[in-house]
Parts: sequence; structure tokens; C-alpha cells
Amino acid sequence: MKIDLDARVKYLMRRARRFSPSRVTGFARQIAREQGKWMPAVAIDMLFSAAFHDTAFIDYYEADFAALTRKERKTFMTSLVQHHIAVKLNDRGAAEVFNDKRRFHRRFADFTGREWLDLGQAGPDELAQFATRHPVLIAKEPISREGHGVFRYDAADVSDWPAFHTELVAKGQVLVEEAIVQHPSLAAYCAGTVNTTRLVSYFDGTDVHILSRVQKFGRGAVSDQFTWGGFFTMLDKDGHSVGRGHSGKNNTFYAVHPDSGLSIVEFQVPLWNEVVALIDRAARVVPEVPYVGWDVAVTPQGPVLIEGNWVPGLYETRVTATGIRTGSRPEHEAVMTW
Ligand SMILES: Nc1ncnc2c1ncn2[C@@H]1O[C@H](COP(=O)(O)OP(=O)(O)OP(=O)(O)O)[C@@H](O)[C@H]1O
Ligand SMILES: [Mg+2]
Repeated sequence: MKIDLDARVKYLMRRARRFSPSRVTGFARQIAREQGKWMPAVAIDMLFSAAFHDTAFIDYYEADFAALTRKERKTFMTSLVQHHIAVKLNDRGAAEVFNDKRRFHRRFADFTGREWLDLGQAGPDELAQFATRHPVLIAKEPISREGHGVFRYDAADVSDWPAFHTELVAKGQVLVEEAIVQHPSLAAYCAGTVNTTRLVSYFDGTDVHILSRVQKFGRGAVSDQFTWGGFFTMLDKDGHSVGRGHSGKNNTFYAVHPDSGLSIVEFQVPLWNEVVALIDRAARVVPEVPYVGWDVAVTPQGPVLIEGNWVPGLYETRVTATGIRTGSRPEHEAVMTW
């Protein structure tokens, strides 16, 4: 793996500047407790991995590096490597279409399957009209805010539409979408949240390769992101769950969904072949951005895109959840060079 010296030095400098001894000991203590290891040894290994193996502390924790051999660790992607790939392979200018969810809607109109409004253009009357068709409104800050920019409103609670319009604009929630209705087999797991499938794809100019597959589950909040209490499980090539779910942040594992009691271990993405076919088409739309993490919602009529992330986000297997000791790096290396 070749990451140029410049990028590596910048990364190390950034890390050194942000270095906080309490962060290392905090993680090391958590790992020592969860895996029955000696804390100082974990801390030293974490520092060593950060300095020489491009492994941020959070990656070390989330992929259970403490339980893996050096050889096994080498099969894992890390945030640095993934970020490097995204920056190297994706055209930064073309990637803007993924940064602003309104631009995404326009470009991927054939794939998103839902109505939306831009409150920069649409006034209170249009918003009120929209709400007569869509009694639940999903309002978003259109430029990504790492899972914090999605909100849900009931149209029935609104009486003064001009005031509501002003409020949304003031909060920066200028993208309003109709609420997606998910497939009944997903709703059975958690009806209050649209539970999405995350696929990372790479388009080599001829073929679309799917390099990572994950199913997220919500806990009733508007979003299934972990900032809203969500968790995820890894998927195999047939869209079937591999092991238990977790949020990546602690050692709470979910063999069943804690609210519905349905099996996470036995979970199967509905309409999986259609999901793969959707990504195969979507990944070709912006060929200048070949490496993308897609959020997909499966509806009763078929899958739709929620968004694409040009820096896909890291979801590697975790041996304590799945028993699998190999990461997705070999799959990446088989189809791309960086
Ligand atoms: N139109 C919608 N209807 C119902 N649920 C939605 C809708 N849009 C988003 N969601 C829920 O909110 C979650 C987050 O939405 P989205 O992917 O647009 O934002 P995000 O991932 O939080 O944004 P970013 O990480 O880019 O800041 C989705 O995974 C889904 O659970
Ligand atoms: Mg998302």
C-alpha cells in the first residue's frame, strides 16, 4: 500500500497536534476491560499502530485490533487509507454533487423516488401544499453534518405555515423531503426509523464492484445513524447478516433488535438483487467519482437512494461480533490501485 509521504506526514502532524493522552488511556482502558487485556500493553500497541500502521485509535477500537494478529490487521482498511483512496480516486469538483443533498436530488432524480422542496426557492404556500400530500416531513440541512442534520415534523402540528417556513430557513433546514415508507420486513424491525442499507461501490469504468455491505437499524428516532441511537450489522454478498449488530462504540452487541426482538443475526435485506442492480446503475452516473458509500432505503416498490457519500465511511468487520478475522482491504486491492 502506497500512501505518499506528504499525505502521511500531514496525517501524522494532524494526529500529533490533536494527541491527547487521556484519549489513548480512555480507549485502552475500555479495550482492556472489554477484552481482558493488560491496559498499558494495549496503550503501547495503540500508539505503535497509530504511528506506523496508519491506524487511528477509533479504528483500532472499532475493528477489535487488540484481538487480531499483525497479519490479520493488515487485511483491514483504516480511515486514513480510505480517506486517501477517496481523495485520490474521486474528482473533488465532481464530488460536490454529493456534498449538497439538493444537488444530489437533482442529479439522481431517477433513483431517489421521493418528492422534495428547496425552501430557498419554495415559499410558505408551496410548503403547505407539499404537506397536504406528505403529512410527515423530513427536513435536512442540505450540506452534510455527520448525522446531525436530519429532523422530522408532523404537518398536523403546524398551523402557521409562514412562521414554520421562517423557522426551518432560520435553522438551515432548507431541504424538505417526503418521508420514505419502508418495506414491511424492515418496518417490522423498527417501524419508527427508516433502516437503511449502506453499500460502498467502486466503478472501474466497465464494472461496478461492491466492496462493503452494511445494514443499519434505528431505535425509533428520525435517523438510523449511531448519533441517534442506531447500530449496524455486516452483510454478506447475498445481503444476509453476518453476526450480531453493534454501534462500534462499545461492547453492546445485538443478536436481536432491542425494541422489536427480531433476529439481527438472521436478518436478510429485502429485494437484495434490486438493491445491487440499483447501485450498479447509480455508480455509473458520475464516473469522475468512482468510489462512493451509498445509503439505500428499500420500499415496498423497490430500493431508492437516500444519499451518496464520496468519502464512504469505514465499516469493517469486528471479530467479537462476527467471528471474521479478515477485513475488506483485499477486496479493495483486487479492483483498484492507490
Ligand atoms: N426522506 C426520508 N424519509 C425517512 N427517513 C429518512 C429520509 N431521509 C433520511 N432518513 C433517515 O435519516 C437517516 C440519515 O439521512 P441522510 O443519509 O440523508 O443524512 P446523514 O447520513 O445524517 O447525513 P450526513 O452523514 O451526510 O450528514 C437515513 O439513514 C434514514 O434513516
Ligand atoms: Mg447518510
